[in-house]
Amino acid sequence: MSAILRPALPDFRPMANRDLEHIVRIERAAYPYPWSLGNFRDCLHAGYSCWVAELERELIGYFVLLSAAGEGHILNCCVSPPWQGRGYGRLLMEQLMDTARGHGVEFLFLEVRPSNAPAIRLYESLGFEGIALRRGYYPADQGREDALVMRLGL
Ligand SMILES: CC(C)(COP(=O)(O)OP(=O)(O)OC[C@H]1O[C@@H](n2cnc3c(N)ncnc32)[C@H](O)[C@@H]1OP(=O)(O)O)[C@@H](O)C(=O)NCCC(=O)NCCS
Repeated sequence: MSAILRPALPDFRPMANRDLEHIVRIERAAYPYPWSLGNFRDCLHAGYSCWVAELERELIGYFVLLSAAGEGHILNCCVSPPWQGRGYGRLLMEQLMDTARGHGVEFLFLEVRPSNAPAIRLYESLGFEGIALRRGYYPADQGREDALVMRLGL
């Protein structure tokens, strides 16, 4: 008999101000150009959908989604580096997609660095398609890096 290993299911809950210092520590470990605490605080105060994933009360991931007029824009989606590669990114995205549907989103959009192969593979496996390139969108060590714009119909 073969056993299929599945990740322990995280709990999802809305992000709160008290999470932000921990989130910024994860953010700095996960991204070369991380968001500041103020970026997250502004998203919370603006009423964006900001959620965290917890495993036994340890915050291991989060996402920020802006939705309006049937469109959803994924502004941030991140798994804490020690927890990456164990299926939590996929679970986070599934929660994000459920949240988006709940807000009446018909099309989800995101931008990703073309060099971010793990993220692109995850998004493609969920059905996202590349639809455009934004030239010089991101800061990079050598000048600027393009953004690949991806879209998913929900
Ligand atoms: C992108 C990210 C959210 C993926 O989360 P994760 O928990 O590592 O991903 P999962 O373990 O759920 O893997 C899901 C899929 O991602 C892809 N993937 C994950 N790690 C990968 C790697 N090292 N190389 C290639 N593909 C990878 C695979 O397609 C994988 O599917 P599979 O397990 O069926 O092969 C995570 O790497 C992350 O937070 N990165 C830093 C922040 C970031 O870049 N966010 C995206 C900004 S647009």
